[in-house]
Amino acid sequence: MPNTVLVTGGAGFIGSNLVRYLLRTAPALRVVTLDALTYAGNLESLTDVAAAHGPAGDGRHWFVCGDVRDAGLLSALVGGTLREAGTDRTVPAPDAVLHLAAESHVDRSSLGPSAFVETNVVGTQVLLDAVRASLAAEPRPFRFVHVSTDEVYGTLAPDDPPFRAGTPLAPNSPYAASKAGADCLVRAYGETFGLPVLTTRCTNNYGPFQFPEKLIPLVITRALADLPLPVYGDGRQVRDWLHVEDHCAALWAVLTRGRLADRVYVIGGEAERANLDVVRGVLAALGKPESLITFVRDRPGHDRRYAMDISATTEALGWAPTRRFEDGLVATVQWYQAHEAWWRRVQSEAYRAARSLYLPG
Ligand SMILES: NC(=O)c1ccc[n+]([C@@H]2O[C@H](COP(=O)([O-])OP(=O)(O)OC[C@H]3O[C@@H](n4cnc5c(N)ncnc54)[C@H](O)[C@@H]3O)[C@@H](O)[C@H]2O)c1
Repeated sequence: MPNTVLVTGGAGFIGSNLVRYLLRTAPALRVVTLDALTYAGNLESLTDVAAAHGPAGDGRHWFVCGDVRDAGLLSALVGGTLREAGTDRTVPAPDAVLHLAAESHVDRSSLGPSAFVETNVVGTQVLLDAVRASLAAEPRPFRFVHVSTDEVYGTLAPDDPPFRAGTPLAPNSPYAASKAGADCLVRAYGETFGLPVLTTRCTNNYGPFQFPEKLIPLVITRALADLPLPVYGDGRQVRDWLHVEDHCAALWAVLTRGRLADRVYVIGGEAERANLDVVRGVLAALGKPESLITFVRDRPGHDRRYAMDISATTEALGWAPTRRFEDGLVATVQWYQAHEAWWRRVQSEAYRAARSLYLPG
């Protein structure tokens, strides 16, 4: 059981849900969030965490605004010498890392791959080096969990068996290629330097606090405004969907019960759905007409189908998804209806003003 977990990318969609999940699940755990606050990082997704667990709460959460490519910062953060801003205390050294910081949007990766290589590949290497140096200077029990994606496996035909951990990597988008590059580095640091690393590869997540450029929140927020809903190609691309809370539970299981010898755990929701059916599900939940659907030219290199065989993960960790997709989708639609201020401030970019959770300005 770790004492202090460093969560990189903790102001993003999965990261903010994960920080909340960790602090709720492990009452003695301390969590340090590192995030560069790119367009995808949103401190307003951590407002409740800051109130309950920041200095005015039980003091178990720290927020550090910084870039995973910043070797000096990472060395101080992992080594436990980073000064807490505005105090003479240091941020506690982690004995576990959950690495989520990444450029994550596939469409953006075709427009500008270099940011993806920089953050996802180079950033992962810088973080691994910081952990390696810290463990060499101060050997201690440690776990490094790298959070990756099913997209590294490429695409499946309709009748292909689902991906398993050992399926060969065949990434098709620059995003997927950059994640596969990071996966290979993580593996290599385990092999070459004996770092205690594990990699998870998860299918599509959905749930609260997802940036409204991704399919489900995009469709919800546009449908609420009666705007056309762009659907790529014929809409028959199949994705496997997992509620973000179930993903958080899986990451906690991997962190606390994962076996280093297993190297890779695949995570999924056993809920294969065509994109068009997901869009229809949102419209049904909102009582909006399907005439809002507008088919647009397909994304280049668009993978046709992802699916995951999670039996080995379930057997090894005792973890399994708990939410039916249709129930989780309705709950997610209701969350966006109830949190209009959150996504309106994302749309207007007002959320970008905040750079610090605990200091004014
Ligand atoms: N969303 C999914 O369906 C899904 C599925 C499988 C795996 N993943 C993986 O999970 C992780 C999180 O995904 P997400 O959907 O929450 O992404 P997201 O885009 O919502 O969040 C990414 C976070 O990383 C931060 N970040 C980006 N570059 C950074 C840098 N250089 N230094 C520090 N922080 C930086 C951003 O500010 C943001 O807060 C990613 O690694 C992604 O590849 C996501």
